[in-house]
Amino acid sequence: MKYDFDSIRDRRGSDSAKWKKYGEDVLPLWVADMDFVSAEPILRALRQRVDHAFFGYTVPLGELCDTILNRLKGLYQWAVREDEVFYLPGLVTGLNFAVQAFTAPGEGVLVQPPVYHHFVKDPVHHGRVLVDPPLAENGDRYEVDFEGFEKAITPQTKIFILCNPHNPVGRVFTRVELEKMAEVCLRHRVVICSDEIHCDLVFPEYQHIPIASLGPEVARWTITLMAPSKTYNLAGLRCGFAVIQNPELAKGWRKATLGLNPGLNIMGQVAALAGYREGKEWLDQVIAYLHQNRDYLYQTVPEKLPSVRMTRMEATYLAWLDFRRAGIPGNPSQFFLKEARVALNDGGEFGRGGEGFARLNFACPREMLNEALERMSGAMKKLF
Ligand SMILES: Cc1ncc(COP(=O)(O)O)c(C=O)c1O
Repeated sequence: MKYDFDSIRDRRGSDSAKWKKYGEDVLPLWVADMDFVSAEPILRALRQRVDHAFFGYTVPLGELCDTILNRLKGLYQWAVREDEVFYLPGLVTGLNFAVQAFTAPGEGVLVQPPVYHHFVKDPVHHGRVLVDPPLAENGDRYEVDFEGFEKAITPQTKIFILCNPHNPVGRVFTRVELEKMAEVCLRHRVVICSDEIHCDLVFPEYQHIPIASLGPEVARWTITLMAPSKTYNLAGLRCGFAVIQNPELAKGWRKATLGLNPGLNIMGQVAALAGYREGKEWLDQVIAYLHQNRDYLYQTVPEKLPSVRMTRMEATYLAWLDFRRAGIPGNPSQFFLKEARVALNDGGEFGRGGEGFARLNFACPREMLNEALERMSGAMKKLF
């Protein structure tokens, strides 16, 4: 079926985090969920499950695990066994579990800022030391500064939280980059926790490679976090999983998470299974729509927001906008919230190198995106 992503559906009054945080007159282009209705097969499966009318304790759907394993094999030629999959209610939970399981307070957690704010804040909250060599800006693209990456590692650095595809800089790391990062981590005996939540939203000219699929040696050092939540816009249904192929790491994970992991909820697993099995038509159309929105931004940002630079996007729907030369007084996201009534994420929240930037979520109908840009453009015009 042909999905309609152009229609604007009112999400106000639905307890949406995105739509509830700010006033009625604010266009919220911040937190990473999409303003598109879910795929029909997912809605159908959820309705059927509701009609069943029992919601007691549940076991993970066997078919879900088979579907995940087939997917990993089919998409990435990555062979994973059922006992190597560990379900999670969410990936922020997963990355915090990994930090708890494989580091002690005072030990180092390696990240690549500017990066998803939980990577930079949560380890510090739990008494770990942040080791944060920034990604290097190269024109409109970010790259790994391998010298800085390796230099930052000390004997106290125990885990590397990789974000691939990278939020917010939009990179899909290449095989060569992944191999080099893995080689450095293995040489320094640093466990890799690879958050791949955005892996299904990759634009056609790029290819996602799970770092653990590089080979058995890398897999032995890696915990991979994946979920259908960004893919099918199911964040509120709380469903994700970790892949751990090293029995020693799996043992550490089990020990650290005992009694803390509620696993999957009934509706989340039903939606995940329906999405993975029957959601491809919707997903292909969503990616095509996001691709058009991205190209629209490439074209429109320079016209409407002079001196604002947009980072090249290889995946996801989160545009990383550089306002450092735009002459905006103070913090750009605060400026646009106040003067344009558009809510963006503050770049400073993403750690080192994020100041002067803002993140704009473009997973919304084009008309809404256009309205946000008009408002932002109007606010900037008033400055000069
Ligand atoms: C890299 C990354 N990891 C994790 C999450 C959130 O995961 P969850 O909602 O499953 O906790 C996000 C959401 O934007 C994200 O971008």
